[in-house]
Amino acid sequence: MDSQKIFLISSRKLGKTSIIINVLNELKKEELITIYIDIEAFSSHKEFLEIYLLTLIKETTTINKILTFIRNLMPGLRIELKFDGSGKPLLSLSYSHNDKELNRIALKIYDLPGIISEKRKKRVVVAFDEFQEILKFNGKNIEGSLRTSIQHQRNVGYIFAGSKRHLLNEMVNSPQNPFYKIGPVMFLKKIEEKQFFEFIKEKFISTKFKISDETLFKIIEKVENIPYYIQMICHELWNYKLLKKEISIDDIEIVIDQLVRENSQNFHIEWSRLILNKRRLLKAIVIDGGKNVLSIEYIKRNELYYPSSVQRTLKSLIKDGYLDQDDENNYYITDLLFREWIRKLHI
Ligand SMILES: Nc1ncnc2c1ncn2[C@@H]1O[C@H](COP(=O)(O)OP(=O)(O)OP(=O)(O)O)[C@@H](O)[C@H]1O
Ligand SMILES: [Mg+2]
Repeated sequence: MDSQKIFLISSRKLGKTSIIINVLNELKKEELITIYIDIEAFSSHKEFLEIYLLTLIKETTTINKILTFIRNLMPGLRIELKFDGSGKPLLSLSYSHNDKELNRIALKIYDLPGIISEKRKKRVVVAFDEFQEILKFNGKNIEGSLRTSIQHQRNVGYIFAGSKRHLLNEMVNSPQNPFYKIGPVMFLKKIEEKQFFEFIKEKFISTKFKISDETLFKIIEKVENIPYYIQMICHELWNYKLLKKEISIDDIEIVIDQLVRENSQNFHIEWSRLILNKRRLLKAIVIDGGKNVLSIEYIKRNELYYPSSVQRTLKSLIKDGYLDQDDENNYYITDLLFREWIRKLHI
């Protein structure tokens, strides 16, 4: 992990964030300075920089030394420091609002982990979660500056994680992009069924629930061993049978139905916003599966249009997060409850 730059890619809800947080916690125990930033949370480059800077400072010094820290390590940087109602610091960069000036500030902030590492004589690890979201705020510039800055940082490791594999792949695999071949790319695979089985069986048994092996496997199969949904369904089942403490195989559909119903108003709104081409393709994938979607037979069977139009629609649905591709490049609907809701449109 030494000063490596690692890309960690997986589909949604497979446990990226959990694994990163776990790794960072372990490294923290070994006296490394660890920084976690979820880029999806920000709506602008400026906001990202402000929170990144504040997080770097908070992990390095105490709150009352923020201004001294900036004066010493980042001379010339102008900031405004406020405290919210609960006493939490809020930092705002003050600069004449133009992109060039912001980029100049950005470079200083990107250099900071290296400087901190040197001053504190500690290694630093920075994890950017949902890193592809950086492309939303005027992309290339940021990638370029970040790359320039981090490649000289000997004692700082970086994790760039994300769920939009096509965007991340392009970032590391296209020679024209600044992050080209910056480091190894790791794909997080699904946890095996058998392991999940043992894990949830133990959880039910330890809370004195009766559940058959068949039912347990059915839960895992139904949600395609995606940890997020296993947790959701198990939690619902557990609540649903809190008094009786016995779960039957039919309960799975009952709680899924219930969850779908609870979300149906949102799904209706989302559905009504989708153009017909997209609805038709999503329905096809729910009913006919996501394999060979571009084949003539598939297109005919599902009354879609030309391969080129299907391809465009696929791309756009992936971009908006409705679809993703699994390890075999088959398409699937990312939100399992939305998938079940679409399925029920047909009954
Ligand atoms: N190793 C694991 N075993 C069991 N459950 C797990 C494991 N890792 C994560 N989970 C559960 O799976 C869910 C999703 O995990 P997490 O949020 O880390 O995934 P993610 O890939 O970051 O998702 P997203 O795409 O939404 O960012 C969480 O509810 C978490 O508790
Ligand atoms: Mg995550």
